[in-house]
Amino acid sequence: MKTILTGIRSNSVLTLGNYLGALVPMVRLANKHSDEMNVNIFVPDLHSIIADIDGNLQENIVRTIKYYLAAGLKINKNVHIYRQSYVPAHSELCWILNCVATMGETSRMTQYKEKSEGRESVNVGIFDYPILMAADILLYSAEYVPIGEDQFQHIELARNLAMRFNHRFDAEIFTIPLKTTEQIKFMGVSDGIRIRDLLNPEKKMSKSTKAENSKIMLNDAPELAAKKIMSATTDSYGKVKFDMWAQPGISNLLQIEALINDIPLQDVISTWAGETRYGELKKKVAESVKKELTEFQERLNKISNEEVYELFDFGEEYANKIANKKLLEVQKAFKLR
Ligand code: TYM
Repeated sequence: MKTILTGIRSNSVLTLGNYLGALVPMVRLANKHSDEMNVNIFVPDLHSIIADIDGNLQENIVRTIKYYLAAGLKINKNVHIYRQSYVPAHSELCWILNCVATMGETSRMTQYKEKSEGRESVNVGIFDYPILMAADILLYSAEYVPIGEDQFQHIELARNLAMRFNHRFDAEIFTIPLKTTEQIKFMGVSDGIRIRDLLNPEKKMSKSTKAENSKIMLNDAPELAAKKIMSATTDSYGKVKFDMWAQPGISNLLQIEALINDIPLQDVISTWAGETRYGELKKKVAESVKKELTEFQERLNKISNEEVYELFDFGEEYANKIANKKLLEVQKAFKLR
């Protein structure tokens, strides 16, 4: 059976960017394919500790899984929910892959450059985290890895490491994840998803941005979230057009509208093309966001911690079994075993 796999760090409450860029696409894919594919959803808690944690990590981890359930994830025997640090094979394979990866290719990762920019001292975890991410994927032979655009470079790195490893030992030990262009097709979107900062739409929406009106958090009061959409930066062209370079603010709103309502982006673009009253588009998107957050938060509040811990019990037993088997193959290739 093929495997779909993804993870979201749980450093804080998540943003609408995480939700629309990663959570919702994963839930839709999982519900569509979980009869015939393995669906692995894990919390990369070891990735979380490369950066500051807002609140309590344990609570954040449990809440992240509740987010998937509140977003409509259906559970069956093929759906595996687990915590990275409860499957030690991730760290072990990360070390082995460290000895396959080069400093050059790891230094080129944009996320590393962004996360270390302007800092006097940067922890090694920030540098190494794409290698750990490669281990997360390769341990489970996952071909499909739905993620937002900012993580594409890491998928390419995982592919390169897997191919290099296989070549070195002249064996198909790792399954190669699909290219990012194929991942996009599998996700059923026309392009990589990047939800933009509401005030500075050239940048991605990020939890670490200070300005509150730049981002919508999943625990924002729905009314407040709607207000943030109404105050989003647009442009002075005066006509709605989807053009991420020239009109990123407007394009971002069209993207949000399409993803929230599960309508093809092209259809939303055709509906609004040429509209001169930006306020009308904003009002519509604000309503969509408000409705979505209201329903999402209602569902979220009904999910108990126990429900999540039961999923961890089942998922971690499965994950350890699969991951240890793959790790042993790798150890044998290197004659560590
Ligand atoms: P993380 O936790 O930074 O982000 C989680 C997911 O949210 C997506 N995302 C966005 N998508 C669209 N627009 C945005 N503004 C936006 N902001 C965040 C990210 O692309 C990502 O899909 N290294 C990963 C976590 C990870 C992982 C993995 C993912 C660890 N191991 C294995 C997949 C497979 C990370 O830091 O994502």
